[in-house]
Amino acid sequence: MSEQIEEIFAYYGKQRDKSSQEMVIALLRELQEAEGCITPELKVRVIETTEITDKFLNCLIKMYPSIKEAKQAHEIIACTGERCGKKDGMTILQNLRRELGIKKDGISSDGRFELRTRNCLKQCRTSPNMYIDRKLYSGEQLKDIKTLLNNICKER
Ligand code: FES
Repeated sequence: MSEQIEEIFAYYGKQRDKSSQEMVIALLRELQEAEGCITPELKVRVIETTEITDKFLNCLIKMYPSIKEAKQAHEIIACTGERCGKKDGMTILQNLRRELGIKKDGISSDGRFELRTRNCLKQCRTSPNMYIDRKLYSGEQLKDIKTLLNNICKER
């Protein structure tokens, strides 16, 4: 997990009332601000840090619709636009689908990745492009998609 996320957990882990509803919601809000949503991995860490139950955490997430839960740990948005297509974008996408065993619903065979496509990511100058967990990856970075995915999984 990123340094920012570790800092957030370190801060909330030290709070005396860390298991209180207010404190857990504040933690979830900060995590969401940093990561965009609450992934399954973050939920595990929230439970460990605040010492609340899985059930209580799920109840809180339901009670606060502004807290967005992600079913998959990683989100990929691949560009299928013309300019990316001209620069091997489709081959990269095929490799990615094969590597992750993406099914018809866009979910990987291990259930950890969700793949979606967009017609243009408005970053044509650096094509081919792909967002992985809201970070843009382009050109040479996408050549060895297997290594890239492995590194991303190790980071989180
Ligand atoms: S065509 Fe891919 S970013 Fe525009």
